[in-house]
Amino acid sequence: MTIIGLIQGLYIVAGIMFILSLAGLSKQSTARPGNIIGIVGMALALSATVWYSIYLSAEFPEDRQPVWLTTVLIAAALAIGLSVGAPIARRVEMTQMPELIAAFHSFVGLAAVLVGINSFLAERGGGSLHVVEVALGVLIGAYTFTGSVVAFLKLSARMKSAPLVLPGRNLLNMSAFVLFFALIIWLVALGDGNHTLGLVLVVVMTLIGFALGWHMVAAIGGGDMPVVVSMLNSYSGWAAAAAGFLLGNNLLLITGALVGSSGAILSYIMCRAMNRSFISVILGGFGSDDGAPAGASDGPAGEHTEITVDGAVESLTSAKSVIITPGYGMAVAKAQYPVAELTQRLRARGVKVRFGVHPVAGRLPGHMNVLLAEAKVPYDIVLEMDEINGDFADTDVVLVIGANDTVNPAANDDPTSPIAGMPVLEVWKAQHVIVFKRSMATGYAGVQNPLFFKENTDMLFGDAKTQVEAIVAALPALQKV
Ligand code: TAP
Repeated sequence: MTIIGLIQGLYIVAGIMFILSLAGLSKQSTARPGNIIGIVGMALALSATVWYSIYLSAEFPEDRQPVWLTTVLIAAALAIGLSVGAPIARRVEMTQMPELIAAFHSFVGLAAVLVGINSFLAERGGGSLHVVEVALGVLIGAYTFTGSVVAFLKLSARMKSAPLVLPGRNLLNMSAFVLFFALIIWLVALGDGNHTLGLVLVVVMTLIGFALGWHMVAAIGGGDMPVVVSMLNSYSGWAAAAAGFLLGNNLLLITGALVGSSGAILSYIMCRAMNRSFISVILGGFGSDDGAPAGASDGPAGEHTEITVDGAVESLTSAKSVIITPGYGMAVAKAQYPVAELTQRLRARGVKVRFGVHPVAGRLPGHMNVLLAEAKVPYDIVLEMDEINGDFADTDVVLVIGANDTVNPAANDDPTSPIAGMPVLEVWKAQHVIVFKRSMATGYAGVQNPLFFKENTDMLFGDAKTQVEAIVAALPALQKV
């Protein structure tokens, strides 16, 4: 077997490992091995790529830089990547994951732009197909870059999460696409003619991609950001696949296609879960009512009642069935450990305890499931929204721990609400609802929550961890009574 054959073989093995990794990640119980297979696959892919580059430098010295230079460049790139990536990954809080993912996607987009421009410069006379590949590569890459930067800024609250509504925004987007396609035709028609003009056209296409990415993601409101992050994940995959085409690298092509299609499937699932139109979200809110802000549901909507830790303990000790609906606040407070302890105590008393997890609770897909698994809450009592929504009416007590938008009845009742139509956990149907949060502040979507003013709802103000710990501490005392 030739060395190139061996390297291609390693690429195929790495590709298969990525597919196995995705399969493993689809279930909580197999997520850890799935992750490890992915890491091994990536290590193999990186090693094979480094080997390939050094081999090409050694075999074709007339076309490439000397072996020592290739080795130094690769070592420098790896050192920079590792020294930046490893500390960030170690330091980042679980709640900051989506913004980190958005930031990383921006690098993939930028890399695709650089690969595209480099490929245009390096391969003069590559033919029409080549220039079309370059054009699409730079467009998707540039869009992914600025789109991910905006998503990062919105998620980290460095930019307002409200949708940017420019007058005639759909016309602007469409004109940009028409201009882009006109430039492709011009570029193809140029052929080998004027390489400098060709380069100018490629740069203009890149600028169009930058502007489109910025504008289309800025036009999407905070509530739809989870879908945008997974959509940008998908675009970063297609950008990598485009780079794979340009570099003739099969592994990059396979990996890009896997990321692109799994991101697209995830975006579709999330759109269905949030009752959003997939097409409208990918087109930057096209067809939505121009992102009208919160409207009537903005201000306070009545009187709320408060409950003390003792009151909550009393309610729990007389309950036969309890459902806990966690949200972003549980993650911020790191309350999952006392929540797991509370669950254990209640179950030991014979109370039926289950968790209801909304598909977009927290700040990233599966956020709550990961936290609950980390705190060793048994998987079989953690149910998805669709599995548990019918059971609230027969439930004595619901503990809403740091959740807000995902338990907001306005999504069902108020067609003017920005989250109208999004399926929510119907906690208000239970006999007694206790909401753990620090104030009457709104959640991520910035919408007031009528749940807090319902007669069967009590607010338990304070940090979720402190309050759950206080309940856990008070439970055994009552047990002795
Ligand atoms: P949110 O609606 O974001 O509400 C979280 C609540 O937690 C806040 O109202 C806050 O109220 C409370 N909180 C914060 N820190 C707390 C603490 N230390 N102790 C107690 N409470 C605390 O949460 P959710 O119901 O999970 O909904 C998620 C939202 O994020 C949705 O709008 C979703 O679309 C969006 N989103 C989701 C994702 C994914 S993929 N999951 C990604 C990006 C955005 P106080 O400030 O009063 O305490």
